[in-house]
Amino acid sequence: MRKPYLAGNWKMHKTAAEAAAFAAELRSALDRSPYTVMVAPPFTALQAVAEALSGSSILLGAQNMCSEESGAHTGEVSVLMLKDLGVSVVILGHSERRHTYGETDELISAKVQLALKHGLNVILCVGETLEEREAGHVNHVVESQLELGLSGVSAAQLQQVVIAYEPVWAIGTGKTATPEDADSVHEVIRAKLAALYSKSAADAMVIQYGGSVKPDNIAGLMAKPNIDGALVGGASLKPESFIPIAQFDRA
Ligand code: PGA
Repeated sequence: MRKPYLAGNWKMHKTAAEAAAFAAELRSALDRSPYTVMVAPPFTALQAVAEALSGSSILLGAQNMCSEESGAHTGEVSVLMLKDLGVSVVILGHSERRHTYGETDELISAKVQLALKHGLNVILCVGETLEEREAGHVNHVVESQLELGLSGVSAAQLQQVVIAYEPVWAIGTGKTATPEDADSVHEVIRAKLAALYSKSAADAMVIQYGGSVKPDNIAGLMAKPNIDGALVGGASLKPESFIPIAQFDRA
C-alpha cells in the first residue's frame, strides 16, 4: 500500500523569517499526519525551516542541488551542504529547471546519482510541454525523461526515489490535467518503471501529480489508482490552501 505523499515547493518565495513562521503553522496542523508531508523552502530559508520543523514528522526538502560535490561552482549548492542542514529530500528535474534554466536529462541524471549516493531521497520530475502534448508525444517524453533520469540508479536505490508527473502546461496556469488524464500518464510511468526494474518495484513507487493542485481538486486526483500524492506549487504557500491539501479526505 503506497502512503500518500503531499509536498510543497515554495519556489522563490518567503524570507527566512516568513518561512519559519509558516513552517511553525504547518507543524501544528500536520505534525501527526497519517500521510507523508514535505516542504521545500528556498535555500536561504532551509536553516530556519529546519529549526522550526526539528523533531516533527514533516520532511525538509530542497528545490535543486549541484551535480558536483564541491569545487569551483559559483552560485551552486552542494549535496553535502543540504545534508548538513537536515535536508532529507531534493526535487530534481523540475520543469522550471529544465525549461527556464536549460537543465538536460544528462545533468539531471548526474544530480540524481549524487543525491542517492549521499542518502538523500529524490523527487524526480517529468512532464511534457503543451507542444509535445499536442503533437501526441506525451508517452515518449515521460518515458525518455524517466529512462535518462534514472540511468545508473540501482533497484535498491530506486526505493529512495519518488516520481512527480508535472505536465508543463498545467504548472502555475490554473489548468489541471483531469484526474483521468493524469492517471493515464501515471499508468504509463508505472509501466515504464516495471520495464526498467520490475513489476513489484513499480508497484511500490509513489508517483505524485503536480500542476495547479488545489484544495478542491486534490481528493479527485488522489482517488485515482495510480496517483499517490501531489507536488504543490502556488497552493503550498498559504496555510489555508496547503493544510487542506495535506489533509485531504480519502474517498
Ligand atoms: P503549481 O506548481 O501548483 O503552482 O502549478 C506545481 C509545481 O511546479 O511543482
